[in-house]
Amino acid sequence: MARETIYQQSDSDDDDRPESSPAEVSSPAEVPRSEASGEDNKLRPKRMREMVGQRDVIERLQIAIDAARHRSEPLGHILFDGPPGLGKTTFATVIPNEMETVVQFANGAGLKAPKDLIPYLTNVSEGSVLFIDEIHRLPRSVEEYLYTAMEDFRIDIVLGEGVNARTLNLDLRPFTMIGATTRAGMLSGPLRDRFQIREHLGFYPIEDLAEIVQRNSRKLNIPIDAESATEIARRSRGVPRVANNRLLWIRDYAQSKAGGAIDLDVAQRAMDMIAVDRLGLDKQDRAYLQTLVRVFAGGPAGIEAIAHTMNCSSDTLEDEVEPFLLRYELIVRTRRGRMATPKAYEHLKTAS
Ligand SMILES: Nc1ncnc2c1ncn2[C@@H]1O[C@H](COP(=O)(O)OP(=O)(O)OP(=O)(O)O)[C@@H](O)[C@H]1O
Ligand SMILES: [Mg+2]
Repeated sequence: MARETIYQQSDSDDDDRPESSPAEVSSPAEVPRSEASGEDNKLRPKRMREMVGQRDVIERLQIAIDAARHRSEPLGHILFDGPPGLGKTTFATVIPNEMETVVQFANGAGLKAPKDLIPYLTNVSEGSVLFIDEIHRLPRSVEEYLYTAMEDFRIDIVLGEGVNARTLNLDLRPFTMIGATTRAGMLSGPLRDRFQIREHLGFYPIEDLAEIVQRNSRKLNIPIDAESATEIARRSRGVPRVANNRLLWIRDYAQSKAGGAIDLDVAQRAMDMIAVDRLGLDKQDRAYLQTLVRVFAGGPAGIEAIAHTMNCSSDTLEDEVEPFLLRYELIVRTRRGRMATPKAYEHLKTAS
């Protein structure tokens, strides 16, 4: 009886399931706020050839995509890791387009129990993509449930409870899982090993960011010269999302205060107004350095203590603030905690 019900359900799902698109299968709650805005979507590349930088990653993915298409097989599972704003979601949007298939978006934070995964897994069509953002936030039980789904395209569903419980073995259509995480270290070994392709996204050099700024000003229909594009790039902390946000603000500033075009003077004045300094640090970055230097006498200080003093979450600091400060050698991480470097003292002196 129960058996019939579930098969009927999944059959009828099949029959009247429209060719799903990302918008149809993802609920707004699953899309991070910064990625849900219209402007962000407009600037996000849709195809691989529109992406700037990360050449080695793109080249390897292109080979895997070509080979999979050649064999008419789904692409192997892919894991992207790296700090926020470097293109993980962008890759997850671009790859299904290159494969000419559809994608479902899910977020690790929203998948609290195996049952939350079932609709996504039973919805996959042959060769389609299931994207799980923030995959490090999956609870262990959900993670374990994914193992057979990813490896054998099969899941077990338990129907009923107690003595009446029975297990139903369900075959899934072969699909591609794309996982994204800012914390690769938090993934368990078995989950990480089930991704055939693992790519780390690093910060972008200034030339790549300047190219992104130039392309996006064309999309936004706002004139900009090369010098200004480079200045915006230089103050964007190696992150495309930051470059886009700076550009959108400078566009507003230019339209309101400077007749619409962006030149070096306009770009600098606009960035000064939002307190982005010449290294690209914003208020929060400087507040971190100031806390470390003034309150903790330069450290070593634990991340939780710094977060409490700043009244923000340690996750935000670890994900969004520290990667750049570490890369610019403004802080170091030691076993006893974070420490400010002489460069940080120097920078605070000139920036304040
Ligand atoms: N290689 C690229 N070329 C051009 N633009 C890019 C590239 N990578 C990212 N971007 C731009 O940066 C924005 C942010 O990228 P994306 O949303 O993919 O970051 P993310 O790694 O998923 O970040 P998060 O960890 O916060 O989810 C995109 O909307 C896109 O416009
Ligand atoms: Mg993302």
